[in-house]
Amino acid sequence: MKTVLVLNGPNLNLLGTREPQVYGSQSLEDVKALCQGACKSHGFALDFRQSNHEGELVDWIHEAGKSHAAGNLAGVVLNAGAYTHTSVALHDAIKGTGIVLIELHISNVHAREAFRHHSFISPVAKAVMAGFGVKGYAMAIAGLADLA
Ligand code: DQA
Repeated sequence: MKTVLVLNGPNLNLLGTREPQVYGSQSLEDVKALCQGACKSHGFALDFRQSNHEGELVDWIHEAGKSHAAGNLAGVVLNAGAYTHTSVALHDAIKGTGIVLIELHISNVHAREAFRHHSFISPVAKAVMAGFGVKGYAMAIAGLADLA
C-alpha cells in the first residue's frame, strides 16, 4: 500500500480558530480525519504532519524523496501556508526529489492580497488547488489516486 504524505506549514495548527471566515471552523485534527477517510477509500496509507518551521518541512520533503525512490509514495499534498509565497528552499527541495506534489490552499489565494498571488511551489507542483476549503484535501488525495 502506497502512502500519501500530507504536509501542513506554519499557522495551520491554528485551523478552526484562525480567521474562520477565511479558513472555516474545522480544526487540523478534523482535516486529518477527512484525509484518513479519503486515503481509506483510495487504498492509501496516510502520513499527516504540520510544522511551523521551514527547515523541518524541507527535511520532510527529502524524506518523501527517499520514499518516492523506494516506490512507497503515492504523492505529497502540501499546504505550505505563508512559505508558499517566500520559500526558495521548499521550491529547491521539491525540484530535487522528483516527487509528485499537489500544492493546496484552503482559501482562493488569488482572490486575496497581492502578496499571496505568487507561489514558489507552483512551478514544481504537479497540480495546484485553491479555494475549496478544507474539502480540497480530500479532493487532492482523489487526484493523486487518479494519477496513480
Ligand atoms: C493558505 C494561504 C496562505 O496565503 C496563507 O499564508 C496560509 C494558508 C491557505 O490554505 O489558504 O497560511 O495556504
